[in-house]
Amino acid sequence: MSDFLLDPNVVFLNHGSFGACPRPVFEEYQHWQRKLETQPVKFLARDLPELLADARSQVANYLGAQPTEIVFVPNPTFAANTIARCLDLGEGDEVLITDHEYGACRFAFQFAGSKKGFRVVEQAIPLPVESDQAVADTFWQGVTDRTKLIFISHITSATALTLPIPEICQRAREAGILTMIDGAHAPGQIDVDLGQLGADFYTATCHKWMCAPKGSGVFYVREDRQQLIEPLVVGWGWGPEKTFHRDNEFIEHHEWLGTHDPSAYLTVPTAIAWQQQHITPEVRQRSRDLVHTAVQQASLIEGIERVHPDSFFYQMGLIDVTTLQVDADALKIWLYDTHRIEAPTIRWNGRTFIRVSAHAYTTEQDIQHLLHALGELPNQHQLRQA
Ligand SMILES: Cc1ncc(COP(=O)(O)O)c(C=O)c1O
Repeated sequence: MSDFLLDPNVVFLNHGSFGACPRPVFEEYQHWQRKLETQPVKFLARDLPELLADARSQVANYLGAQPTEIVFVPNPTFAANTIARCLDLGEGDEVLITDHEYGACRFAFQFAGSKKGFRVVEQAIPLPVESDQAVADTFWQGVTDRTKLIFISHITSATALTLPIPEICQRAREAGILTMIDGAHAPGQIDVDLGQLGADFYTATCHKWMCAPKGSGVFYVREDRQQLIEPLVVGWGWGPEKTFHRDNEFIEHHEWLGTHDPSAYLTVPTAIAWQQQHITPEVRQRSRDLVHTAVQQASLIEGIERVHPDSFFYQMGLIDVTTLQVDADALKIWLYDTHRIEAPTIRWNGRTFIRVSAHAYTTEQDIQHLLHALGELPNQHQLRQA
């Protein structure tokens, strides 16, 4: 698909890290940036509240939330820090996470725990997983009567695993435990309906699978939980004069973090419209099929294994090269320098994976190119770990 600005000389199999923005969406982004620079004061001080309210309401609608339950944030790291540092967690409390969580967010909780006295408990979910029920049961083994919050990914970064979030949220609700879901990889890859999901807090990137410009994310706090969260950054919104004359304290407290360029946020509605026009269920299924082909055919190569059953993968999949004992960094460089393949290599619990993403621009040839490179891998002795 020619809509993307990606370098045609690179086989780009890493939509998962930072997404990719299609040309019409990127042009809209530049349009907002130009408009800002034409009259910065009018744009930021007068026009922005209404523009943001409109963008917020469209992204809320896309995610099945109320417009009063969503604020734009730069990214999920920001939202995870807000929960870790600003929710009332303290001495004796436990935050339950999995051993698949994204490093930056795990650090946010560990850091806040070291300051505030709560413990971060990491429940192992060994691979391969077998069923949603088994994953939920294994995860639940980490719950104690001190568990106050669950922090868990909707789709994990390191292992590309879609976790059974509705089941976990329901059990947590019954047990009186709050839930913060890290949906960095979810919207755009799978349908997300926050009204149905049952999470208390949720964060997502718009710049990954929703294909919006970089630095656009959302932070959802269910209406009846908003009084539990203080802002991470205190600014004008905290004061008695309502900066943006809004009648919603949650939005007032959390969205305006001082002067910044809101163009990426304002472009999110265009990204949603682009998605709805181009990323049909058939296009998503095609991407999913390409990932399944990559994972399945790679597993036929000597020393390469499959990690999960296909049903756990959407547009990202894992190829397990642990047995080949290659160095993950050297492998990544080799894939790029020798084969012009951009794909992340991941170390996780003593194992080494290649994560493959597919999107509308991914072709069968791209996958064959990867498989051809992987076919050479067993003989690449210079990549072996020292
Ligand atoms: C599961 C997960 N959570 C959080 C993040 C953090 O995203 P950001 O760096 O945009 O805050 C990522 C980024 O890749 C991720 O994969």
